[in-house]
Amino acid sequence: MGSKIIFLGLIAVSCYVASAADPSPLQDFCVADQNSTDPKVVEANDFFFTGLHLRGNTSNRFGLRPTPVTVAQVPGLNTLGISIFRVDFAPFGVTPPHTHPRASEVVLVLKGQLEVGFVASNPENRPITKVIGMGDMLAIPFGLTHFQRNIRNGTAVILAVFNSQTPGIILMANSVFGSKPDISNDVLQKAFQVDQNVISQLQNQF
Ligand SMILES: *[C@@H]1O[C@H](CO)[C@@H](O)[C@H](O)[C@H]1NC(C)=O
Ligand SMILES: *[C@@H]1O[C@H](CO)[C@@H](O)[C@H](O)[C@H]1NC(C)=O
Ligand SMILES: *[C@@H]1O[C@H](CO)[C@@H](O)[C@H](O)[C@H]1NC(C)=O
Repeated sequence: MGSKIIFLGLIAVSCYVASAADPSPLQDFCVADQNSTDPKVVEANDFFFTGLHLRGNTSNRFGLRPTPVTVAQVPGLNTLGISIFRVDFAPFGVTPPHTHPRASEVVLVLKGQLEVGFVASNPENRPITKVIGMGDMLAIPFGLTHFQRNIRNGTAVILAVFNSQTPGIILMANSVFGSKPDISNDVLQKAFQVDQNVISQLQNQF
């Protein structure tokens, strides 16, 4: 009895992530549309999206096509803290390393087989990866760099579900080498320990 109480006490201390307030705003302001909460005016289509059964066009250099369903597509998701994407992969297509600034993610494989992985934060920087197939899911913790790779010579499809109505995405390479105007060369050369030519070559890719 006594040990059970101590055990529960430890759990309460180590997992204390309760939240007693509304979620933080996602933008500077969001003026209320009174109609948007009026049950007489709101309709099923405010919560509806169709098209997740449709294959996306993966003819691009990554062999990748996300079909987003966020609050931008489905206004009824506003304040619900959830969104879903279908992602199509060409044979050997990849989602390049990226993070979502506002969400954790679960990846559910509908078709094919993919290597899905994320990297523990600094100083560990250890990749945690697994090959998963149809019916498998892998969780991607909040904010960590992650990627997916179709390991088969056939198409693959995943559903990615996020605990944000607007998960956002930061593609590492685009963010570092594709910013307009460029991040100063001095910063990039020191950061990556390569010379100007390599930096320019990378910048030309993004
Ligand atoms: C709210 O709904 C009413 C009734 O449908 C409509 O007349 C009015 O224009 C709407 N107001 C806004 C701001 O959309
Ligand atoms: C897929 O995208 C490529 C490149 O943008 C385009 O050339 C092609 O016509 C598209 N295919 C379909 C079926 O829309
Ligand atoms: C993938 O499949 C295509 C079509 O069957 C074939 O031409 C190609 O050589 C295959 N590629 C690899 C890397 O197995």
